[in-house]
Amino acid sequence: MYTDKVMDHFTNPRNVGEIEDANGVGEVGNASCGDIMKIFLKVEDNIIKDVKFKTFGCGAAIATSSMVTEMAIGKTIEEALELSNQAVAEALDGLPAQKMHCSNLAADALHEAIKNYREQNG
Ligand code: FES
Repeated sequence: MYTDKVMDHFTNPRNVGEIEDANGVGEVGNASCGDIMKIFLKVEDNIIKDVKFKTFGCGAAIATSSMVTEMAIGKTIEEALELSNQAVAEALDGLPAQKMHCSNLAADALHEAIKNYREQNG
């Protein structure tokens, strides 16, 4: 039911944890299941240098969290804002239809963290 990429990121998630001196933090909850994703950013010179995440959620949520961190690192904040939930799901070679709602968290949490960064660093 899951692609190899989803299984890979679920069983071996990248960038799990917190960034102590994060300068942007975003948290979103999935209204349909109650799962929560939190993303920490370290931005320097408008570039996302580091991203870490903590996700209390299903396997698909963890895989999309892991993938979105990999996609965001090295991007400018403008480029990272363009990352969509759909793009994250596609990078995982898709998710089962009944799990697409799980991918709603990933890019949203990243965008929230960028918003928070901008508020702090106006
Ligand atoms: Fe909640 Fe997947 S079931 S994010």
